[in-house]
Amino acid sequence: MVKAVVLGAAGGIGQPLSLLLKINPLVSELGLFDIVNTPGVAADLSHISTPSKTAGALPPNDGLKATLKGAQVVVIPAGVPRKPGMTRDDLFKINAGIVRDLAIAIATTCPKAFVLVISNPVNSTVPIVAEILKKHGVFDPKRLFGVTTLDVVRASTFVAETLGDQKLAPKVTVPVVGGHSGVTILPLLSQSQPPLPAGFADDKRDELVKRIQFGGDEVVKAKDGAGSATLSMAYAGERFADLIIRAIGGEKGIVAPSYVNLAADKDGGEGLKKAIGKELEYFSARVEIGPEGVEKILPLGNLSTYEEGLLKAALPELETNIAKGVEFIQTAKL
Ligand code: APR
Repeated sequence: MVKAVVLGAAGGIGQPLSLLLKINPLVSELGLFDIVNTPGVAADLSHISTPSKTAGALPPNDGLKATLKGAQVVVIPAGVPRKPGMTRDDLFKINAGIVRDLAIAIATTCPKAFVLVISNPVNSTVPIVAEILKKHGVFDPKRLFGVTTLDVVRASTFVAETLGDQKLAPKVTVPVVGGHSGVTILPLLSQSQPPLPAGFADDKRDELVKRIQFGGDEVVKAKDGAGSATLSMAYAGERFADLIIRAIGGEKGIVAPSYVNLAADKDGGEGLKKAIGKELEYFSARVEIGPEGVEKILPLGNLSTYEEGLLKAALPELETNIAKGVEFIQTAKL
């Protein structure tokens, strides 16, 4: 049983995510923090007849610290969502500052907590949290995760659609590696289980890859200015948080996709680095997780020539995204 905390709990992702965590039987205490509305959200959830105690706090009177006290799992969907007309840079500037401040509170209040970052751009916000934890001397790469589960969820759904059978969606597995935006998202369709039909046309494969990489845009467009994915993200976020919570509880064999610092692997992620062919600090891959955090970053498996090309195309952007997050903290006066 763990204490889980959601930072940004009153938002489009935060509320459904908090609901799903409230009905997770392995959560004994649920702490909700936001700059608005958390007492209401917490009061509402507290009427649900599950074992976890629920409390909501706002910034005054050290609400953030009180919420984080004793937390073992902290999920961060705080920030602003991407809206039409907003550049990635606009989004970065706002969310980077929000994530930085929340990370400082984590570093000083619950430095051993598992931190699960949803706030975008994840490729950069995860390095921001890491740099803050490093500044406070409490960084453990085994316990910091960028939540990339939605990419995997979308891949399963879209592959099942391609196979013409929605009922397959929960069973389809496709490793999705790399990063968590656009071309940095690398769906390894050649490893799909069940596989795509023999002779699946290259243009159809390209379309499917693009749809997985830019699936978020479909939602932004359909919401017509009202924000980005919230319900599917909350589902994916809870699915990942549940794996973390079960790993903390000692369940063996937990493997989850995640964007992690490669130093989290006891061999320094050497196998993966070799496959990437470049010195990168962060990468999303399938990761084995135990009670103390990351135990192993799994190798990518055999890539097709096409996928090697995708990987090569993704690396410069991923590298820039990582550097942006690191520089945001290293050049800031804190
Ligand atoms: N501390 C805590 N919560 C904050 C802070 C802060 N400093 N600043 C903003 N928030 C809260 C907002 O009050 C809001 O309730 O974060 C919540 C964000 O909710 P939405 O605006 O509805 O955004 P959402 O769609 O949930 O997306 C949040 O997740 O996937 C990413 O790109 C997305 O970065 C965005 C984030």
